[in-house]
Amino acid sequence: MFPELRMRRLRMGEGIRALVRETMLSTDDLVYPLFVVHGRGRRESIGPMPGQLRLSVDQLVEEAREAHELGIKGVLLFGVPGRKDELGSEAYSDDGIVQRATRALKEALPELVVMADVCLCEYTTHGHCGVVVDGRVDNDRTLELMAKTAVSLASSGADVVAPSGMMDGQVRAIRRALDEEGFTEVAIMAYSAKYASCFYGPFREAAGSSPKFGDRRSYQMDPPNVREALLEMELDIREGADIVMVKPALAYLDVIRAAKERFLRPLAAYNVSGEYAMVKAAGRLGWMDEGIAMMEVLLGIKRAGADIILTYFAKDAARMLGRTT
Ligand code: PBG
Repeated sequence: MFPELRMRRLRMGEGIRALVRETMLSTDDLVYPLFVVHGRGRRESIGPMPGQLRLSVDQLVEEAREAHELGIKGVLLFGVPGRKDELGSEAYSDDGIVQRATRALKEALPELVVMADVCLCEYTTHGHCGVVVDGRVDNDRTLELMAKTAVSLASSGADVVAPSGMMDGQVRAIRRALDEEGFTEVAIMAYSAKYASCFYGPFREAAGSSPKFGDRRSYQMDPPNVREALLEMELDIREGADIVMVKPALAYLDVIRAAKERFLRPLAAYNVSGEYAMVKAAGRLGWMDEGIAMMEVLLGIKRAGADIILTYFAKDAARMLGRTT
């Protein structure tokens, strides 16, 4: 006890603080989400996500190259399709935007891990993550389309497919389809505990994926629940998920911690668009130091237990990490 014990002794300088530091963030932990559009030479800014862009494939390759050179090992692709229809057919078309982007990235940067989101919401006219029958999202009919999408992305060269539709049985359906087609080495990162969150707002503007009627609460999770999240993760692991995810991250750090203690699979956490927007907005208003806030947020997600952090801050964080080490 004080005065023999003084906690401040180990805080007296940067050297000693570094020696006793418990959690380290590294560029190896980060995945950079990117939005890809048709066309050439397109770099469209996204209002509520300053610094993020919708990129055509040629520009995307350059952006990914820059990230890779900064030490980032993976990107996660989201498509803005040329056409939408009831069944989201561009999601599983071989000349779909993400399929094209994946082929280009694997050719230009073979070492970069390409992860592709598997969901219908960006591709459907109604904006829901599945097939709509009589005004409701039909789980089992959606599974077939998700499986088809995953196979199409795998055959374009994706290393990891990431189902985010929150349909029951989606991981099993995708694993089976991938294995049947010989893609036994393509991994599944499951958005297992994905909550119905207002923090996806900026993303929906970026991807044009807001539901045109109703909301996503019949498939995404209810925010107050944590045991249910653990069950979702357990089921996904049994269905064949290689990586499980909690999303969003910041308001769900307890879920990340609980998952870390319970499961042996690598754990991902998605620092989503609204979390990015909050830090950016406060930084712009001069209300917080954006860079320090960013690092504190990412470190907090890591300390909670995330092995992989999906974040729009990936490049900024990598630059900052490069400066200090
Ligand atoms: C698609 C999907 C969403 C996000 C990732 N995949 C949007 C949603 O579910 O509405 C959100 C990512 C973010 O906010 O950064 N289903």
